[in-house]
Amino acid sequence: MITKSIKWTPEDGFDAKQLEETKKVIVSGGLVAFPTETVYGLGGNGLLPEAAKKIYAAKGRPSDNPLILHIARKEQLRSIVQSVTETAEKLADAFWPGPLTLILNKAACVPYETTGGLDTVAVRMPEHEGALAFLENAGVPVAAPSANLSGRPSPTKAEHVREDLDGRIDMIIDGGEVGIGFESTIVDLTEEIPVILRPGYITKQMLESVVGEVMTDPALAAESEAGPEVRPKAPGMKYRHYAPKAPMTVFRGREEAVAARIQKEIDTYCKSGTYRAEEIGILTTEETKHHYPVGQVVSVGSRHKHTVGRYLYEALRKFDELHVKMILSESFCGLEQEEAVMNRLLKAAGQHVVDVK
Ligand code: TXA
Ligand code: MG
Repeated sequence: MITKSIKWTPEDGFDAKQLEETKKVIVSGGLVAFPTETVYGLGGNGLLPEAAKKIYAAKGRPSDNPLILHIARKEQLRSIVQSVTETAEKLADAFWPGPLTLILNKAACVPYETTGGLDTVAVRMPEHEGALAFLENAGVPVAAPSANLSGRPSPTKAEHVREDLDGRIDMIIDGGEVGIGFESTIVDLTEEIPVILRPGYITKQMLESVVGEVMTDPALAAESEAGPEVRPKAPGMKYRHYAPKAPMTVFRGREEAVAARIQKEIDTYCKSGTYRAEEIGILTTEETKHHYPVGQVVSVGSRHKHTVGRYLYEALRKFDELHVKMILSESFCGLEQEEAVMNRLLKAAGQHVVDVK
């Protein structure tokens, strides 16, 4: 299959003819990758079982891992869920369009192929002009996981989608770099109290300011402490996601202590002949990168800004390109989205953390 690339820009939008082509592909059950404010999505007609099957096949994703339905207008929610609860209404009013996915009981029109066999469905309205124009024009809810091969870091640029899915899907809408860089917050609204199943840009505090008490899936905290015995409620959270090819260790603690420890690790590896310096990747920030005179140093930007979340997946892909054999990472604390960023970083490291005193 030849994958066709088209462009969307904030200044010029779509070429009208190309936008019509995206609709034809979606309506006929094909796949279109598109930008959102979080990461690129791999879209297919959310009401067609065949399209969901194609998405799983293109990604190499297990089919028990449900997909998120993307909509262009809040009113569309009504047609794909059993009932829009008061809490759902409030959260959609406060955060849509935006990086928040709501889980509700599904309507009969949503096939089990899309929901991975569940009676619930995940829905979100993205905050991206290009995505909204594409979704509005498609005229159906678009099922879309992140547009990466299963297990690879989520794509934050069209080039990343091409790297993973070229020749496996019909079209890619190139909308440049995404703004946030990690996936939406997922909130389950099927219980009395809303439960966060995946942390994201919309934090617990932000949700609580609108609907009062919100809980976090206990499996998220248990993951880093007790290992994978406690099953997360979002099936996708159980997989070793977001991972670069080389094993990775995260060092947690005071900035200087972490830098000193990472330097010591590099020194030990090099002296013992286990790895050469250029085989060791170091994930760091603009403020702290000067600590590392040797090794493959990749910075995620300033540790005090949104850049850490925005460039994390790109940095993980960079290590694959550099063919490093081992990655040593600083940890990133004190950010507003610390919980989401550290959740992705620790997953990439397979929960391999060293606390530095
Ligand atoms: O920001 C995002 O959410 C991106 C963009 C493309 O919108 N999408 C995304 O999709 O991250 P994906 O498929 O990579 O992750 C979806 C997550 C998975 O962990 C899945 O298990 C969970 O959502 N999920 C979907 N439907 C669910 C449901 N009914 N119940 C529980 N978890 C669900
Ligand atoms: Mg994903």
